[in-house]
Amino acid sequence: ALRASFATKAQKVNQNHQHHFQPQASFKVAVLGAAGGIGQPLALLTKMSPLVSDLHLYDIANVKGVAADLSHCNTPSQVHAFTGASELANSLKDVNVVVIPAGVPRKPGMTRDDLFNINAGIVRDLVAAVADNCPDAFIHIVSNPVNSTVPIAAEVLKQKGVYNPKKLFGVTTLDVVRANTFVAQRKNLKLIDVDVPVVGGHAGITILPLLSKTKPSISFTDEEIEELTVRIQNAGTEVVEAKAGAGSATLSMAYAAARFVESSLRALDGDGDVYECSYVESNLTELPFFASRVKIGREGVEAFVSSDLQGLTEYEQKALEALKPELKASIEKGFAFAQKQT
Ligand code: NAI
Repeated sequence: ALRASFATKAQKVNQNHQHHFQPQASFKVAVLGAAGGIGQPLALLTKMSPLVSDLHLYDIANVKGVAADLSHCNTPSQVHAFTGASELANSLKDVNVVVIPAGVPRKPGMTRDDLFNINAGIVRDLVAAVADNCPDAFIHIVSNPVNSTVPIAAEVLKQKGVYNPKKLFGVTTLDVVRANTFVAQRKNLKLIDVDVPVVGGHAGITILPLLSKTKPSISFTDEEIEELTVRIQNAGTEVVEAKAGAGSATLSMAYAAARFVESSLRALDGDGDVYECSYVESNLTELPFFASRVKIGREGVEAFVSSDLQGLTEYEQKALEALKPELKASIEKGFAFAQKQT
């Protein structure tokens, strides 16, 4: 049950909607940055969820076309467009889950940290609006560098007096999706069975797949571990280079973000068996933010799967210690940015 069944669920939803509208749709989801490369396919996948009653699409660019287009899909949710800062507050009213993929993506040669100067301010301003309009919502941060934008979001929410660490999530689902795909390919396993926890952060060596904790339990040679770990860490750059200046991962990212939205909605709906990896406030290590598997419930993070960090291999233990200084620096950079503003 730890395994995500997003694909199969989505297919079921699709079949059902050809016959009747689902009665249980009741959650409102907002996507901030909905006209973008991630925002559009994410909106499409979220439109397919039977749990969504209203889909709010916000962007500084015109989103009316995206909303009109999506609104013709005969799935239950109503689609609403909000364009420009004057419509931001309304886009957030009564919303249960806010997903933020607004901001610039990488080009070849850039690290995620190179995006800091532009995206830090975008995330700060959008999260301030979330604090003012739907402080109780689950907040999913997609905009990079996630290692810093999540601490920025936390600081903004604290300044507004509404910070709930259980409801602020950095979206690292794509790292898990990639790890599952690459491990299944390399070991000739059925994809649906494979689940690899990925911990740490969401950039370069801070992305740490715990291959020793793969389900089903399988053994890897040292060469396989090195090759798979490096590929999972650099998978984003693989896409950036293949797109040759046209951006970074958008379709696989939308798939991953939609899975995380669906998991959150299931949790809000009372499903007691929802586990995802996410970059959240944490005391699993000495770092204030850390990605790990968490159990998600109606009130957000309910528990940490701390056993994932126990009994690590020597390779994983070394990699964990090696990622800490970089992740710490990214967290502090986020804090410093948010504090400088006040
Ligand atoms: P994009 O450039 O295609 O789309 C970004 C959208 O954000 C545009 O429509 C733009 O108008 C909008 N936007 C910019 N400023 C805004 C503001 N203040 N308010 C509302 N909307 C605003 O970029 P793409 O490819 O969709 O990537 C978005 C972000 O997601 C980037 O920061 C990228 O690095 C990040 N990303 C994160 C991943 C993860 O695993 N967490 C994976 C891939 C990308």
